Amino acid sequence: MRISILHNRDHHLLEDDPGREAREDVVRVAAALEKALEGGKRKVSLIAVDRDVWSIGQALEAQRPDVVLNLCESLAADARGEMVVPALLEMVGVPYTGNSALALGLSLHKDKAKELLLARGVPTPQFQVVQSVGELISLELPFPLIVKPAREDASVGIDFDAVVQDRAALGRAVSRVLRTFHQPALVERYIDGREIYVPLLGNHPRRALPLTEIHYGKAFENKPRVLTYKAKWDEASPECTDSAARPASLTPALERRCIETAMAAWAALDCRDYGRVDLRVDKDGQPFVIDINPNCDLHPHSGFAKAAAAAGISYPDLAWHLIELAQERSHGNSAIETSRSTAARRTSGAHRDVHSRRGGMRARAHRPGGRRHQP
Ligand SMILES: Nc1ncnc2c1ncn2[C@@H]1O[C@H](COP(=O)(O)OP(=O)(O)O)[C@@H](O)[C@H]1O
Ligand SMILES: [Mg+2]
Repeated sequence: MRISILHNRDHHLLEDDPGREAREDVVRVAAALEKALEGGKRKVSLIAVDRDVWSIGQALEAQRPDVVLNLCESLAADARGEMVVPALLEMVGVPYTGNSALALGLSLHKDKAKELLLARGVPTPQFQVVQSVGELISLELPFPLIVKPAREDASVGIDFDAVVQDRAALGRAVSRVLRTFHQPALVERYIDGREIYVPLLGNHPRRALPLTEIHYGKAFENKPRVLTYKAKWDEASPECTDSAARPASLTPALERRCIETAMAAWAALDCRDYGRVDLRVDKDGQPFVIDINPNCDLHPHSGFAKAAAAAGISYPDLAWHLIELAQERSHGNSAIETSRSTAARRTSGAHRDVHSRRGGMRARAHRPGGRRHQP
C-alpha cells in the first residue's frame, strides 16, 4: 500500500507571521506519523506544500497513493487554504484521512459554525461578528467579552487583552484583530469557567476518548483564564507552564453532558474521523462549545494522541486507524465487523470503558524545539 502524508511547510513564507510556531509544528507531526506508519508492505512518502500549491497535483501524480493522510492546516501561510486540500483530493478521487472541505471551512469560519450550532440548539456563547470598529455601536452583548479573529485557529490572536470588560478595551481589541489579521473579529460572551476538551474518534461508531481539562495556575492570577497564543506555543513562558492539560475529573453527569454537547457540535458541522471539541462550563454546569477542531494536532505529545494512549491505543495503532477510516469511506465499512486492527477493536468499546483507562494519560509533555500545547 502506498500512503502519502500531505502537509503544509509554509512557516518560513511570511516575514511577520502571527501563527508561525503553529505552522512549523505540522512538519514534525508529519515526520512522526511517517515513522509510525512505516513497515510491512507499506510505502510512506511525504508531500510538503509551500508556496507552490500546484505541486500537490504533481506529487500525487508521481507517488500515486492509495490513500492520503492529510495534515494540511494552511496553504502558502494562509489558514483559509486548509479547506482547499480535501476539495482537491476529492476531485482527484483519492481517499484521504480526516475532514471534508465543508467541515474544515465551517470550523474555520467561527461565526458560521456558531450559527449552525445555535440552529441545532447546541449551546455556544452569544456572539456578534464585527467588520469595522464603527459597528460596535450596535453591539448589545453584556461584558465580559472575548474578541478573537473570526477565521484563525491555534489561539492565534488570543492574549490577555482579548478579554475585555468595557467599551474602550473592546474597541482596542477589535481594531487590533482587524488591523493584524485583515478579517472580521468575533465578539463573544466570555464564559468564566472550566475548560474541557472532548477528543472524538471514529464514525460508526464514534467514541469520545478520555476528556482533558486545562488547569490555570499562578500566571493567571488576576488575569483572564484563557489559553493564549503564548500559553500554547512559548514553552518558556509562565503562561505555558501554568496551563497544564490534565485528565478531567468530572461527575458522571457533567461528563455525559460534555460528551453529548461535543457529539452534537461535531454532527452539526458534518465532522468525521477524528478531532476535538473545546468547551467552557459555566457556574451552573452548562457546557458551551467555544471551538471545534476537525484538523487537530496529531503529534505523539498532542492531547489527542495522549487521550488515545489513555484509551489503550498506541500511536502507530492510531495512525493506522485513521488510514482505515479513510479506506472505509471508499470501500464501505464492512471492515468494522471483520478484519480490524487492534486499534479499531479497541475503539469500539463504550465511552465508559474508554474513560476508565484514563489513568495512563500523562500530564502535558514538553516537546523540544517548539513543542505545542497539548491541544
Ligand atoms: N467564549 C469564551 N469564553 C472563555 N474563554 C474563551 C472563549 N472563547 C475562547 N476562549 C479562550 O481562548 C482560547 C482560544 O480560543 P478558541 O476559540 O479555542 O480559538 P482557536 O480556534 O484559536 O483555538 C480557548 O482555549 C479559551 O481558553
Ligand atoms: Mg481552540
